[in-house]
Amino acid sequence: MNKKLSVADIRQRKHSSDKLVMSTAYDATFASLLAGAGVDLLLVGDSLGMVIQGHDTTVPVTLDEMIYHTRAVSRGSGNAHVVGDLPFMSYRVSEEQALTSATRMLQEGRAHSVKLEGGVDVAATVSSLTRSGIPVMGHIGLTPQHVHAMGGFKVQGKDQESAMRILEDARALCDAGIFSLVLEGIPADLAHAITEEVDVPTIGIGAGPQCDGQVLVCYDFLGINMGFKPKFLKTFANLGEDIQSATKQYINEVREGVFPGVEHSFKSKQRLRVVGSASTSEQEENLILYGNID
Ligand code: KIV
Repeated sequence: MNKKLSVADIRQRKHSSDKLVMSTAYDATFASLLAGAGVDLLLVGDSLGMVIQGHDTTVPVTLDEMIYHTRAVSRGSGNAHVVGDLPFMSYRVSEEQALTSATRMLQEGRAHSVKLEGGVDVAATVSSLTRSGIPVMGHIGLTPQHVHAMGGFKVQGKDQESAMRILEDARALCDAGIFSLVLEGIPADLAHAITEEVDVPTIGIGAGPQCDGQVLVCYDFLGINMGFKPKFLKTFANLGEDIQSATKQYINEVREGVFPGVEHSFKSKQRLRVVGSASTSEQEENLILYGNID
């Protein structure tokens, strides 16, 4: 049986040709399907604010909501390493607040590590978490929690000055002890340069082919999030269309009396005597409903 990937195993992949593959997951069923297919890491991303909760941004997501979903994912995670995303403002008020939030993510959410957004500005916090034994994944470039400050979900680091700032962010996070680094929405040559320089695996999304790994939102690459087609995304299935066509068939069959048929129905053990609803005993009701599940 394969063993769960530890933080040490993940760091080690920097020196291997095996790319790390991470997918988001938000519940136990998806976690078990994705882990069963062999992803290395499951990220319970605060993207759930958009794909699960229907918000326009990740900003409204709370720590309690993240913990709820992380606990569900952990139950279905098999051998995959579970990363719990720390949501907006749950780690920036003070180092104490960050320690409390990350501790809850590991203890209540059962995550193996946490991810947080930011670079130089959160390096001291990352250092305090890693010194306390909490593994941290960094996340720089397009950081969705800064959507209002960035003026939208825009590719970052396109000019020399902003590219150097992102490189500085990567260096500061590595010095602070992160075990891996998400690079989101940056030019491929910048992601390549960061990947060459840092000693932890980089995991890209919209960051070109030269990172040490890749992450995508599962609803996106499975084609459930229909109509979302940014340049960086490849869809590997059209589950959104499949779900709609299966649902249409279900509706039709119920309306036409095709489903449920006898093959989906239970049988009584003995010939049923209908003695009138008022006098039907509880025992008879149980017999009808549960007597024959075989
Ligand atoms: O929240 C999320 O899903 C993420 C990934 C897209 C990296 O942060």
